[in-house]
This record gives sequence, structure tokens and C-alpha cells, in this order.
Amino acid sequence: MIEQKSIEHLRNSIDIADVVGAYVSLKRSGSSLVGLCPFHDDKSPSMHVSSNRGLYHCFACGAGGDAIKFVMEYEKLSYPQAIEKLASMFGIELEYSNEKTQKKDNSLKEILELLNNYYKTELFNPANIAALNYLKERALSPAMIEKFELGWAPPSQNTINLLQKNEIEASKAFSAGAIKNSERGVYASFSNRITFPIYNHIGSIVGFGGRTISDHPAKYINSPQSEIFDKSRVLYGYDKARAAIFKSGEVIICEGYMDCIMLHQAGFFNAVAVLGTALTPKHLPLLKKENIKVILSFDSDTAGQNAALRSAELLSRSSIDGKVVLIEGGKDPAELVAANRQSELASLYKGGVELVEFVLRKKAAAMSLQTPMDKIKALDVLREYLGALRPEIISFYEPLVAQILDINPHDFSLRKNVKIPQNNQNWGINNNFRSFKPLRNSRFKAPQDEIPNPQAYIQNTNKRDILALSVLKNILLNNEYKKIALPLLNAQMFKDVRYYNAFVNGDESVLRSLELDESLELYDAKQFKSALNRLVCSFLESEKNRIANSSEDNKAAKIRELTIAIDKLKKEM
Ligand code: CTP
Ligand code: MN
Repeated sequence: MIEQKSIEHLRNSIDIADVVGAYVSLKRSGSSLVGLCPFHDDKSPSMHVSSNRGLYHCFACGAGGDAIKFVMEYEKLSYPQAIEKLASMFGIELEYSNEKTQKKDNSLKEILELLNNYYKTELFNPANIAALNYLKERALSPAMIEKFELGWAPPSQNTINLLQKNEIEASKAFSAGAIKNSERGVYASFSNRITFPIYNHIGSIVGFGGRTISDHPAKYINSPQSEIFDKSRVLYGYDKARAAIFKSGEVIICEGYMDCIMLHQAGFFNAVAVLGTALTPKHLPLLKKENIKVILSFDSDTAGQNAALRSAELLSRSSIDGKVVLIEGGKDPAELVAANRQSELASLYKGGVELVEFVLRKKAAAMSLQTPMDKIKALDVLREYLGALRPEIISFYEPLVAQILDINPHDFSLRKNVKIPQNNQNWGINNNFRSFKPLRNSRFKAPQDEIPNPQAYIQNTNKRDILALSVLKNILLNNEYKKIALPLLNAQMFKDVRYYNAFVNGDESVLRSLELDESLELYDAKQFKSALNRLVCSFLESEKNRIANSSEDNKAAKIRELTIAIDKLKKEM
């Protein structure tokens, strides 16, 4: 931990104008300095910096604080990291209260640095020309080899010798992930592989990736998890991409080391890579920044698409904006750059599918949408996902959901988060339903919408609507009926969807009006089953008609399915 007195010393020795001025060009205006605020898209200088008070403040976006806060925000650093950054900027020495932990970290880092320097020289050792040739074959430029510090890990014994020569304790070499243990003894974690040093977001080396250039079954290996390396937290290349990310407001996240490096080679300096995983919640602190949009650029194979789905879901649930760009034809970004097709990449990255839309489409594509019941089930799944997003944005997706599921946009609302019961495809008991409170003993709830008048409704309605309302009334009065009917009803069976919504939501005022309506029949068990059967049958018939007169895909198959379902119901009558 940094000693408090050394933080005070730092604060007192630096001028905030020098700190902010190192990042933003400042001009004098009256008693303060002004410049373009880096925390929003500033058109006229709105950021004021006062040396006397040691503070900055943006009059447009409200950003403000002291020098440490500025560095934290601008560089996306933690408090101690920002202090260390300032200390090194101004040549101030910091004192640490717990020297031990500090030393330990450093020494792991030092071991990795030692290895990295060794691997880098080995890449240019004439004995290892095959490694360099491999990189050339993959169209990697010398500039990228240097920028990303690619290297070559020679046979295990060479690395062990290096560690011994430098008097590195075996226990520390283990902790740093430099060596591993097996029955045959200690061996180097990386041997006969191209090495990719992995840096964390503040530019400290934390591990390596290694690629075989022969046909070793493990194409890539990574450093083992250690106290400094957590592969589900690191974004490869982030330290190098950070400035471009904040400048462009976008971060391209791809799947692998080579993709990231080749994107940089092609001028996409805002590219980073996950290390063979989807994004995890531990990545979010690096991405959850105001005004930063994420471009997920994953492979279009099944694994890549699944990773894209999981990542898009995670990001959208965390209110991070962005899109998914999948390259058709089984190519990854590295291959496109190697084939000199970077202009295609540029236009791909201009397009893409917005994250929420991508998730909705993928989820829907994974489900059967053949029958109306299928669609209702699918709606339920989409609703559950959308329910986790910010409520204000959910209704934007109503037209899209209606289009994807091919349902009438007026028949449902996403915002109300109406829970549609699961269809268990038979007459059995569904435990998944919402239980209604007994009508008579419960509080009267003020209706949200105008209470529909069943009498007026019945006068303007046809037989099926009356049947639907009768079924509903009987369900309200008999718990057993509810269990039978719940999986089979849906909003489209009701001309006035408010009745169905009231049923699902337990809106008592609406339900009571049904209950009191004497023109709606009361059924015994047998009559109820028959009425329900007729209702479902009539609904399926109308679906069949609608589809027959539409220009939908798979029309014939859908109609066939409906006909089978209808026949089955008729037999049961
Ligand atoms: N990966 C891994 N272990 C493997 C395979 C992959 O850790 N056995 C990780 C690596 O970080 C790799 C990423 O997953 O960069 C993407 O895998 P893949 O698409 O198979 O690799 P590419 O990046 O296409 O590798 P290359 O172009 O070198 O073949
Ligand atoms: Mn790939």
C-alpha cells in the first residue's frame, strides 16, 4: 500500500495544470485554463482547470475532480495506479507501507520480463529461422513483431538454464508460471513455441501465450493462472489499444492473439482480444466506460457464434452498447488482413448487428417457431432476457420481437413484463403458473387501463370471443380449470387483449367484471374441457387461415402442423 504521507507529498508537489496539460491542450482564460473536455464530445472548450484550487471541472458534462481523479478517469486507472502514474510522470518517489507484497509482485513481473527478453532475442537467433519464417508466412510485418514483442521459446532446458543462471528461485519461477512440474521433473511452461507476452491494462507483463508452429495438438497454450495472471480478466492488447479506444469511442474485441495483432497491422489500433473465452464479468470494468461502444468481432464458426451470443448477452445486460460483426465464409480478421482484404473489414465494422438485436435473433433462431404455441414460448424466453435490460429501452424492441416471432405487435407488450405461462404441450398439470389471489377476500386494485365492459364487448363480438371469456370466467372460479387451461391459452385468442393480460397479471378489477357477467356460462368439468378444446381449435383454425393467406416462409409445413394439432383436438372432443 502507498503511504498516505507520500500521497500528500505527491498532491502538494504537482500542478494540476501540468497534469491535465499533458493530455489536453489548455489555453488561459481569465483566472483559469480552459480546454476541450476529454470526457465527452466537446466542441467548444468547456473544461476549466484551476491551479490554485487544484481542480478541474467541465461545465458541459460535469466531469471534475483533482489531478488524481483526472488521471484515473482519463487513463482508466485505479486510485493507486493513478498515483503511481503521476509519481512516475513527475519523478516523485512513493513509499509503500507493505514493502513485501510490492516486492513479490515485482519479482514475478521481473521473471516474466527476463523470459520475454530472452524469447525476443531467440526469435532472431539464426537457429530458429523457422519461427521467423512462420510469422512471415502469416504476413506479419516486422513492425508488429516488434510492437507486440513476439518471441520464440526454445526447448525447455534452455529456459531452465536461463532461470538458473539468473538465480531465480524455483518456487518463484513456479509462481510466475515460468516452469511446471511433471513426473519426469521440472520443465519450462513454454517450449518450441512462438511467444506472445500478455500485458494487463496498465502495461505490466502478466503472462504469455504460445503458439506451436508444428502440428502439436495444443495449437495455443497460455500461462497458468497465477496471482498476477487471470485469463478471464485480461484483454490482450488493451494497453496498446487504450488511446485509440478512447479516441474512436469504439473497441474491437476479437478472438485471438493473431486477430488482434493483424488488426493493428491493418490500422485498427482499437483492437483487443479475449484469450480463448467469451467475455466474462471480470472483463467488464475495462469496457464499462461512458461513450465506449463494443464491436464483437468473433469467428463465424459455431464456437465463435456461441461466444458472441454469450458476450453480447453479458454486455447488454450490463448496459454496454455495441454490435456484433461476424465474418462470413469461415475467415477470421487475421486471415482477411493477411489476404490484403482490410477494406472489407473496414466496411464490416461500419455495419454489424446491434447487441440486443443479435441476442434476440440468436435466441429465437435456436427455438422452434412453427406453431403459435412455439411462438408464445419463444416470446417468453425473449421477454425474460429483455426483462434484465433497462426498462426504458425494452419497448424499442417490440416491433423487432413481433417481426422475429411473426406475431401481431398489438397482441403483446414487452414492457409490462407479462409472464406467459410455459406450454407443456399437454393437458397435464403445469406448476409454472402464477397463482391468483382469491377474488372475494382481496383488495380491489385500481385498474391501469380503462376496465373493459364485457357486455359491450359481447355485443360486438363473435362466438369465439364469448367462448374465450366464458373459459376465462370459469378458470377464475375454479383452480383445477386453471391448471388445465393455462398452458393452452394465449393473447391472440382474445379480441380484447386486456382480458388476457388481466388474467396473466391477476388484475382483479378486470377479472371481477367477468365474474359478475351473467351472460357468460358456467361449466362443469366436462363442459369446461370441451369449451377449452373448441376455443383452442377455433384459434388454430384461424391461424391456419391467416398463414394460408400470407406469404410466410415454410407455409406448407406450418399449415401441416396446425392441421395435425386441430385433428388431434377434434378427436378428443
Ligand atoms: N486458444 C487457446 N487454446 C487453443 C486454441 C485457442 O487458448 N488450443 C485461444 C487463443 O487465445 C487463440 C484464440 O483462442 O488466439 C482463438 O482460437 P483460434 O480461432 O483457434 O485461433 P486463431 O486466433 O485463429 O489462431 P491462428 O490464426 O494462429 O490459427
Ligand atoms: Mn481464429
